[in-house]
Amino acid sequence: MIDKIHHVGIAVHDLDEALRFYRDTLGLHVQAQETIEDQGVRAALLTIGESEIELLEPTSPEANMAKFLERKGEGLHHICFQTRDVDGDLETLKGKGVQLVDQKSRLGLAGMICFLHPKASRGVLVELATPMELYSD
Ligand code: CO
Repeated sequence: MIDKIHHVGIAVHDLDEALRFYRDTLGLHVQAQETIEDQGVRAALLTIGESEIELLEPTSPEANMAKFLERKGEGLHHICFQTRDVDGDLETLKGKGVQLVDQKSRLGLAGMICFLHPKASRGVLVELATPMELYSD
């Protein structure tokens, strides 16, 4: 069900500041940049070969990302696995009793996405994503 690591999500205080390193110093290409209101983040996706780095800045002090930064500081926030069928996988995982954050897939920067609960994956927040060009419902 999982094809590859789609991206690694990194929590940052300041997206523009973070882009100075990932884009300007490392020379990575920014392939998408967007504010995702329902997740409370300003995000940028940078391409590394067939995978990506996702930089996430909270849009407000109340955003979950802001609380994460307060608790843990900047750094690794989640790993995203690419799948061809995020909805089918979600149903399969529900059937196996896996703890989830999202009961249904939703639109994210990487396509249709959902998050599993970190308790299910030994402390790592895992996102599943089906890029829009592969998604059919
Ligand atoms: Co992500």
